[in-house]
Amino acid sequence: MDKIRQILLRNQWNSTKIIIFRFYSNPTKIPTLPSVSFEPQPYKGPSYNDVLNSRNTNVSPFVRLLYKEPVMINQGYMQYVWDHTGKRYLDMFGGIVTVSVGHCHPKVTKAAVDQMHKLWHLTNIYLHPELHDYAKKLTDRLPGDLKVCYFCNSGSEANDLAIQMARLHTGAFDVISLRNAYHGDTPYSVGLCGIGTWKHSFPHGFGIHQVMNPDPYRGIWGGSSCRDSPVQPDRKCSCGVNQCKACDMYIAQLDELLSYSLPKKIAGFFAESIQGVGGTVQFPKNYLKKAYEIIRQHGGLCISDEVQTGFGRTGKFWGFLNHEVLPDIVTVAKGIGNGFPLAAVITRKDIADSLNDALVFNTYGGNPVACAIGSAVLDVIDEEKLMENCHHVGTYLLHSLSKLRRKYTIVGDVRGKGLMIGVEMVADKESKEPLPKPKMDAIFEYTKSMGLLVGRGGMSGNVFRIKPPMCISRADADFCVSCLEKAIEKYSPL
Ligand SMILES: Cc1ncc(COP(=O)(O)O)c(C=O)c1O
Repeated sequence: MDKIRQILLRNQWNSTKIIIFRFYSNPTKIPTLPSVSFEPQPYKGPSYNDVLNSRNTNVSPFVRLLYKEPVMINQGYMQYVWDHTGKRYLDMFGGIVTVSVGHCHPKVTKAAVDQMHKLWHLTNIYLHPELHDYAKKLTDRLPGDLKVCYFCNSGSEANDLAIQMARLHTGAFDVISLRNAYHGDTPYSVGLCGIGTWKHSFPHGFGIHQVMNPDPYRGIWGGSSCRDSPVQPDRKCSCGVNQCKACDMYIAQLDELLSYSLPKKIAGFFAESIQGVGGTVQFPKNYLKKAYEIIRQHGGLCISDEVQTGFGRTGKFWGFLNHEVLPDIVTVAKGIGNGFPLAAVITRKDIADSLNDALVFNTYGGNPVACAIGSAVLDVIDEEKLMENCHHVGTYLLHSLSKLRRKYTIVGDVRGKGLMIGVEMVADKESKEPLPKPKMDAIFEYTKSMGLLVGRGGMSGNVFRIKPPMCISRADADFCVSCLEKAIEKYSPL
């Protein structure tokens, strides 16, 4: 009755429409997870409280846990994980965009086990077929002369090395990255990050400069068709066909940075194809194309960080292919190994040669087990048509989520490509103030209670990040949207 009275008290037709719609469409049922035939093993380990105590006592406090009552995951199979009580969750975050082909994918697991029976470790100072087979197989996936790779264990290491390569190759020092970017957390790579929450007050990032982020939703400039996505920003513009004034303005910022703050020659430019940790931010179409041209005019190399966007997630094998650019260096990690520590820097021979003057070494880089896994991941992506799945299910999911943007005032933006998706939550659509943390937390907790795991990101932590194993189905996508809607509905203002 209260709700009806509130409706009647409102005289603004638009908000009344929303309230009437919500009143009658209020989904009351808890969504049910799609069925799965897999039976997890019962949990037999230490108690939840013992594990939590050990976490609080023996594990660094700066590694934070998600959720008020953190989930303790016991087992995973494809897109699902089970906690210690046997409760199943749909994992729409894939261990932070890392489980690419599915938790414990049978083919990848078999490749790892077979290799473990043969040879675990050697280092790359010896020849062993796994490393060389895999290097060939991986570089075959890259266009142009990007045919030389160096294996390491993490995305941060890969970006560290890419900075060194760019500096040694060009003989210049200065590097540009984007505000709101995340490229790693080593003393070198953290300098590339444009998110203050990752910065400590010690010297880092000498010679690294951040340029204004070309964000068509939250940035100063943006219009109604800037993005390479099925869902466009909810903004107006007067751009004609093949025109994007927002893109031009952001490029002008890059030009200004180069003119005002940098020497004539620079070493390089780092960008993701879609920002991941930064909250799935997509740049205006052609931004990277124009930026690469300008960087090259200043003698710099263009480095594409494909740590999150690589291996088919956006519906193309590499995220940079969506921008029609050819980088000089590509860095990869996460999805390359489906969760096994494996990363790589891939570049041209002339650039790789720049490191020849001194030794560069990494004990575990190119480990035989990692290479066997990487190779199996590539096979699975092809055999199970996961890139195509990312395109089809991702597009379907984006369209479904965009309905929530229309329906709820606190859903500010829905964006992404393939299965690299962000839902930005706001206090209201006009101000775009980030949704206050207590509400974000409440929605996040509620989705978990229904069996859905998603990520959080963005400068204010107000973006839900949806980047699941690439094997999810439409039924999983429907479950994800239903849970999000139920939680958003519950915490939406009346
Ligand atoms: C785009 C991007 N680059 C680099 C990294 C760093 O990778 P790692 O955590 O493996 O060092 C990350 C990690 O989240 C990332 O998202």
